[in-house]
Parts: sequence; structure tokens; C-alpha cells
Amino acid sequence: MSPPMSARVEQLLTAMTLDEKIGQITQVDRSAISPEQVAQFAIGSVLSGGGGNPEPNTPHTWRAMVDDFVAASRGSRLGIPILYGTDAVHGHNNVVGATIFPHNLALGAAGDADLVARIARATAIETAATGARWAFAPMVAVPQDHRWGRTFECFGQDPRRVARLSAASIAGLQGPGSGIDVLACAKHFIADGATTWGTTGGAQWVPWWERAYGGEGWQIDQGDARIDETTLRSVHLPPYRAAVDAGVGSIMASYSSLNGHKVHAHRGLLTDLLKRELGFAGLVVSDYHAIDQVSPDYHEAVVRCLDAGIDLVMVPFDHHRFRTTVRAAIEAGDLDIDRLDDAVARILGVKQAMGLLDGEPEVLPDPEVVGCAEHRALARRAAGAGAVLLSNRSGVLPLRSDVPVLLTGEGADDVGLACGGWTIEWGGSAGPVTPGSTLADGLAEHLGSRLVATGATAVDSSGLDAQHAPIGVVVVHEPPYAEGMGDHEVVALEPAQVALVRTVAEHVGQLVVVVLSGRPMQLGEVWQLADAVVAAWWPGSEAAGIADVLVGARPFTATLPLAWPDAPSTGATG
Ligand code: GLC
Repeated sequence: MSPPMSARVEQLLTAMTLDEKIGQITQVDRSAISPEQVAQFAIGSVLSGGGGNPEPNTPHTWRAMVDDFVAASRGSRLGIPILYGTDAVHGHNNVVGATIFPHNLALGAAGDADLVARIARATAIETAATGARWAFAPMVAVPQDHRWGRTFECFGQDPRRVARLSAASIAGLQGPGSGIDVLACAKHFIADGATTWGTTGGAQWVPWWERAYGGEGWQIDQGDARIDETTLRSVHLPPYRAAVDAGVGSIMASYSSLNGHKVHAHRGLLTDLLKRELGFAGLVVSDYHAIDQVSPDYHEAVVRCLDAGIDLVMVPFDHHRFRTTVRAAIEAGDLDIDRLDDAVARILGVKQAMGLLDGEPEVLPDPEVVGCAEHRALARRAAGAGAVLLSNRSGVLPLRSDVPVLLTGEGADDVGLACGGWTIEWGGSAGPVTPGSTLADGLAEHLGSRLVATGATAVDSSGLDAQHAPIGVVVVHEPPYAEGMGDHEVVALEPAQVALVRTVAEHVGQLVVVVLSGRPMQLGEVWQLADAVVAAWWPGSEAAGIADVLVGARPFTATLPLAWPDAPSTGATG
């Protein structure tokens, strides 16, 4: 199933040696290859995984790193430049100083396609300013179980809303013109959000993960989606139809399985459904190490995945083994040269649509644009737009400006906890990980001296007095994570945080609880202790936007993008 080839692509394909074709379908992690080797082996793509950052980590060092790889590739025999890919999933989130936008679940709550398109455009500008022109975004999954550690990356549970917002994100990233500015990547095809709890397995590389993370996690992520064709087509396919219609240039295959069959080796899905039925003419990229999970026999794994329809392989480390295995497969007749040519032609077709084959150096934004005031203002607006008012007894919100307000909780003044996963490091982390404006900054701006911020996590009663703080705001949070690290059977607040809410409730007149989380959490007695509860999700580096809706500078307009497990009926659902 080969899309029509341009004369330029045909010319290159005809000129390429077998090894150059194999290099072109090879994607390598930046830590596992030098620019010289990129040229030597005619590598097609290099990536930064989560946390794959230069040291020091600045927009300028990123630009220098990527420029080195691109310049080296332009110096190869045929001068085909690499595509540099990175997970710019809520802004260019690996880079210190970049604008970090709310994660997709908050944008799904906001439900505003124009806002999503603007955010994607700003993300594309900041990504391209560091030389990278491929964002592994948007995630277009439709999550079915909030215990999944990737729920926060999704726009929500309504396939129509997911389709609408995915198309907007792709348009924003790839740009208004006919060419492709920053390549978008709809992921992960298909039904990654439909897996069953307890079915993850077969990932040979997981053992090193258990050593690193104590065996927690990976219970549903990369598991088995046990669904029928009707469910597949009605729930999980619509976002991909919308993505293909929006002209998405790449699609990433899912680690997961469909009814016991690994998607990476599923020809019916990757070729017959995606390429033939939907008419997808771009490139299908594998996920990180994912082909290794298909079979303990690497030769078999490579052949099955490429034959199924994978075009570009995110190896990501041992590119020598991968390249020699593909050559052996072609020479043995296990892999047809026509399939290799089709994969190369798809990759070159995308590069041509990006203006990478016309020999002209790319014209990219200046790294100074990364984290600019305009983008941060957009992120602040988005933070408020995504916040859902789950309950508001006695009209405590919007906050009065004529009485003191006490603010406490670890997340009240912590950029890392407001950004969540996929921020600077793969799983994110608490602390001042990147510049930004917190909820505390925003409330201080609005309330001035009326803000009594204890800032403590373990508040002692001496700091609290209802006469001095008639209103209390407690920020509770879910510790950040990424992917299967976040698979938890019970998603509930830590006891110490519930104890904090209980203590503050005893000492203030009215209480507001703000939840920073990647997904709905069981709040238990907090529902009764709080006069108002706000779902802020992971609002990003400009969480001051949450203060804007708390004080009424902006209205609450968001609705729940998926069910909140123990919320009293609040009418806040979308
Ligand atoms: C990860 C994720 C995928 C990401 C890729 C590169 O494992 O599954 O979403 O784009 O690897 O970091």
C-alpha cells in the first residue's frame, strides 16, 4: 500500500544503497549515537526520550545539540537530513525555561479547540526554536480506566471531543500552510486506552524497570485491550479518522495488544485499517523499544513489525543490531525489499512535505522565543480554562477580596507539582524544576496582604485562627509520574494530605480544596470537609491561572472530561 511517490522521492530511492535505506528507517536515542555516526550510517531520525536533555539544559544548548545532528546528516552521501523527535506533549516540556501548558486532560475539560490549536502553535514555535521539528503529540487515546498512568495525556472519554481536539492540536503543530512546520504524531494506534487491568506483560525490558522503580506500576499500561470490532471502531478509531483528515504526518503504534495480538505486529491494524481503509499516507513509527516485546527472537520481531506496517523503528539504542538484522532479513528473503522501499518512501515523503529535501537550510525561530511572555499568558489562560468547579457550597467561590485567605499545601507554591509528568524529566518531579507562576503567586497578585500563606504542608494549629483567616484554601496533589509508573489500583489522596485538610477545616470559617492531579482521585471525607472543591488537573508552569478562576477574574467554564469516581452529583460533568 504505497502512496504516490514524487519525482524527488523516487530519485532518492533509486539512488539509495540498501544500507542507506536501512539507515533511513532507523531512529536512535541521542544518547546512543554521535553526529558522525548519523552521517556514517545515514540514520533517518534521532530522538530525545523523556528527560533526554543536554547538560546544561537550556533552549540554546538544545538548539546546538540538534543542529549538530542535522548538520551531520546533511553531510551524508545523499544529504538527507534527520528528523529530530521529542515528546513536546504539553509545551516543549523537556526544556528548562519552556512554557509548560496544562496537560491534555485539562484541555479536554476546557473543550476549546481554538485554545488547543493556539497552544499547539506556541509549542511548535518553541520546539522548532530548539531545532527539533517532530513532536510525539497529540496523544489521541480514549481512556476507559482512570487507574491508567497515562490518563492525564488524554483529552477525555468522549470520542467526539477527543477527535475534535486532536485535529486542532495537529493543525496547530503542523502549521497553517500546505507544508508541515513541526511534524505531529497521533498516538498510540490503537486502543491503548482500552486495556484491561492486570494484563501488562511480555515486556522483556521491564526487569530493569522493576530494579529502578521497585516493581510498582505497569499493571494496565501496555496491556491487552479485550474489545470487539464495534467498540474499536466506535470509540477508539474516530480520533484517528480526524487525525488523518487533519493531515497528520506520523502515527505512533501502541505497545498494547488487541485481544492478545501485539499491535506492533498487527498487519490488520497498521496496514489494512490505518493505511488502506483510512488512507494514511504518512509514516508509522514504533514506540521506544517496543518491537523487542513482540518476540524474544529479535530477527522475528523485526520482520513481523516491519511487515505489519511499521515504517520507522524507534530502536532506540543498539542501532548496529537493528540495522544488521534488517539487512539479514532482506538477504534471507524474510522481509520483502518492496516493504522496505515503501517505508523509506513514506519517510522521505514526510520529509519532503517539511521542506527537508530541497537542499535549503531550515529557517527556524530564535531560541529566545522559548518561554516568552505571550506563550506564558496563553498557558495561564489555559490553566484557568481547564479548572472544573466540582462543588461550591455556601458560595465560597469566587473568593471574597475583603477578608484574609489562608493558603497551604505542598502544591500551592510548587511548579513541579503543578506540571506533573513529562516535565524536564520523564516522570516529572516536585520542586522549582523550571520557571513559572504558581497558585500562590496568582493569589498574592489578586489578594495582596490579605493572603495568609502558611506554605507549610504539616500545618500546626498555632498558625490558624478563623478570626484571622475566615477562608482557607488547601492544595492537595497527586505526586507526578509517567506511563505505567502511574498505574495504581486505588487513586486516592495520601493520608497526610487528608489530615491537613481536616486540620485546616477545624480552624477556618470556610474551606476550598484545590486538587492538582493527573486524573480524578478519590477524595473521601474531603467532600464533606470542603465548602468547595476544584479539579485543577496538572495546569502547567502558569498555575497562577487557577487563582484567576478562584477569585472570579475568569469564570469557571470547564466540564469533567471523564467521570470523577466519588464526586457527589455536582452537574459539573461534560
Ligand atoms: C514512550 C512513550 C511514547 C513516547 C516515546 C518516546 O515510551 O510510550 O508516548 O513518545 O516513548 O519518548
